[in-house]
Amino acid sequence: MLLAPLLDLAPIPGRGPQFSWPPEAYLWFKTLHIVGVVVWFAGLFYLVRLFIYHREAEELDPVLRQAFQDQYALMERRLANIITTPGLVVAVTMAVGLLTVNPAWLHQGWMHAKLAFVLALLAYHAFCYRLMGQLQRGECRWSPKQLRALNELPTLLLVVIVMLVVFKAQFPTGAATWFLVALVVVMAASIQFYARWRRLRAERLAEKEQAGAAA
Ligand code: HEM
Repeated sequence: MLLAPLLDLAPIPGRGPQFSWPPEAYLWFKTLHIVGVVVWFAGLFYLVRLFIYHREAEELDPVLRQAFQDQYALMERRLANIITTPGLVVAVTMAVGLLTVNPAWLHQGWMHAKLAFVLALLAYHAFCYRLMGQLQRGECRWSPKQLRALNELPTLLLVVIVMLVVFKAQFPTGAATWFLVALVVVMAASIQFYARWRRLRAERLAEKEQAGAAA
């Protein structure tokens, strides 16, 4: 009875208290769901960026290499365990809360599509843990370039999932959607080109330095 005002427990004669969620419960679940999603994605994006730095550190001289790789390994573990996974747990737990308050969502096609993309995101999350383990053991075979490309996947999932939850059954397929798709592709390509430009510039500088030292 102490929880009655909080949970809206109204006693029904002969049947004991009936449970129904207070009206604001849905909004609380949604608020925390969105907070969890933001934290989860921030963690996923930064984690793979750290993997890229971790792999790039292999090109440093041996003393620096060890120090940098140890530091990156520590940062990756902390980011994954203290930020990324708790973000996932909050997002998914609150999503279960949302579905408990309004189970009707579970019978709608857009929600099935959303859950399929969320499964892909969970698989990506698990794969990041696998890569992290390989990096810590010095067994990762993914090049920085491949890791950069991999880091585009959650962006794509983020855009699709948010569109599904906002548009629901009216998922758009018109010009605005294609513009957004083109924008994501241009962003992804720019990141790849910028990384390539930086690498070529570093190589040219190193060649110049070598030529200067030899002269
Ligand atoms: C276990 C997986 C998930 C389930 C079951 C789930 C379920 C839901 C439900 C039922 C809503 C409320 C819809 C409404 O009130 O209109 C919602 C809102 C939302 N979800 Fe999820 N969600 C999940 C994962 C995610 C993920 C991974 C993202 C981000 C990529 C996300 C982004 C959002 C956003 C932005 C909203 C607010 C939309 C609005 O208020 O218009 N969700 N989710």
